[in-house]
Amino acid sequence: MSETKDKLSPISIILHWTIAVGMLTLLSVGWYMESFEVYGLYDIHKSSGILLFVVIFSRVIWRLKQGWPQPLTQTQKIEFLLGKLTHWGLLISTLLFPISGMMMSAMGGHGLDVFGLELLSANVNAETGRSVPINKDLASLGREMHGILLWVVLGLVSLHLAGALKHHFGYKDGTLLRMLGR
Ligand code: HEM
Ligand code: HEM
Repeated sequence: MSETKDKLSPISIILHWTIAVGMLTLLSVGWYMESFEVYGLYDIHKSSGILLFVVIFSRVIWRLKQGWPQPLTQTQKIEFLLGKLTHWGLLISTLLFPISGMMMSAMGGHGLDVFGLELLSANVNAETGRSVPINKDLASLGREMHGILLWVVLGLVSLHLAGALKHHFGYKDGTLLRMLGR
């Protein structure tokens, strides 16, 4: 399913919008549940994050195999580089987000499951019934990465939106419409 300058493949479009909506939802839910200590949302957040990881991973493979969409407007070099940097940054940070989350949970001894389907069992102390960290340092690193990535992704998405709007309203090319399948 090859891509041309005028048309992106349906796979690229479906992957882009699934990940865009999924990331924006998980960012909001993650921030909300942590800020207001809504523990009932943790399982839903973690399970959806693991499922989104599968889609994100497929997208990275697809992008590396397929190459990037060709630019429709010859922009100045600095703008072209900023666009490239943003796209690579988004690809890498969307991958690191769920990885750091899984690291925090797994290394914290909480195990991993997807809506009740156990992928890794929790490391529970039989006497106290509490989960015991497997590796505290890696669990803390995962938590720190998760917190920092929130700001990295917010910055990149803002740049990305500004770029999409500039192409649509400034250059009046079909960059946004092409990502909408038109
Ligand atoms: C796939 C994309 C994901 C996004 C965009 C995301 C986003 C977030 C955000 C924004 C926060 C709040 C961070 C803060 O305010 O410092 C958060 C917290 C959290 N996330 Fe995720 N997350 C994702 C995946 C995952 C996964 C896969 C797991 C685990 C399997 C996970 C586990 C957690 C946990 C446990 C917290 C609470 C951390 C704490 O209480 O200190 N997340 N997430
Ligand atoms: C919600 C508003 C969004 C709009 C309007 C939008 C728009 C676009 C457009 C028009 C392109 C095509 C650029 C080109 O042809 O060179 C694109 C590509 C891309 N977008 Fe978005 N996007 C949005 C959200 C997101 C989010 C939230 C992410 C990730 C967190 C993201 C990640 C990417 C990546 C990595 C590309 C490069 C091409 C690809 O891998 O599909 N976008 N976006």
